[in-house]
Amino acid sequence: MSKVKIGVLISGGGTNLQALIDAINGGSINGNIAVVISDRDNAHGIERAKKHGIDGIVISRKDYKNKGEFFDTLINTLKEYEVDLIVLAGFLTILSKNFVEVFNEKIINIHPALIPSFCGEGYYGQKVHTAALDYGIKVSGATVHFVDEKADTGPIILQEAVPVMEDDTPETLALRVLQVEHKILPEAVRLYCDGKLIIEGRKVKQIN
Ligand code: GAR
Repeated sequence: MSKVKIGVLISGGGTNLQALIDAINGGSINGNIAVVISDRDNAHGIERAKKHGIDGIVISRKDYKNKGEFFDTLINTLKEYEVDLIVLAGFLTILSKNFVEVFNEKIINIHPALIPSFCGEGYYGQKVHTAALDYGIKVSGATVHFVDEKADTGPIILQEAVPVMEDDTPETLALRVLQVEHKILPEAVRLYCDGKLIIEGRKVKQIN
């Protein structure tokens, strides 16, 4: 089977991108990262990409007054790189309907909570952990899912829970959740690249 060409979209530090790069370099994923794109200037993930010889591009949202043009540029760039799979690894812009249609069932997102809790518009990064702690939950975790036309509502591929401690801050909880993100994101990408994931309505089944 030929290697799957992956486009990774980021907005920040890129530790999930790093986990993917490490898994690919370790030989566990039948895919290659063709390009990393950030929607913000100064995203450290771009440096991580370049360090590993991967093209890193900034398509900054603030350079586009028109959201449609921003997404058109994003779509065209991903098409130029002929990507088969798009991984949102801490990408904090909600995708347009058109983007999701163009890459239907080919977009995977990682979210730092157990969906359907603490997800959707406005829940991203540290805000998720602040809201979770304010609510007083005892268990949190991470979710990898396919992306559909709404925020964080697509079919779930993998989830893993972590305990919440009484003295947790958003920062300490984020670190614990990140540890499982770095495990389940590469695992979901591995399954996708091996052709082992089938979407049936809301459910994602794994085939052997
Ligand atoms: C991760 O925790 C990821 O789950 C989250 O942003 C962080 C990025 O960290 N994504 C979202 O909140 C999307 N709604 P990273 O840049 O170190 O991978």
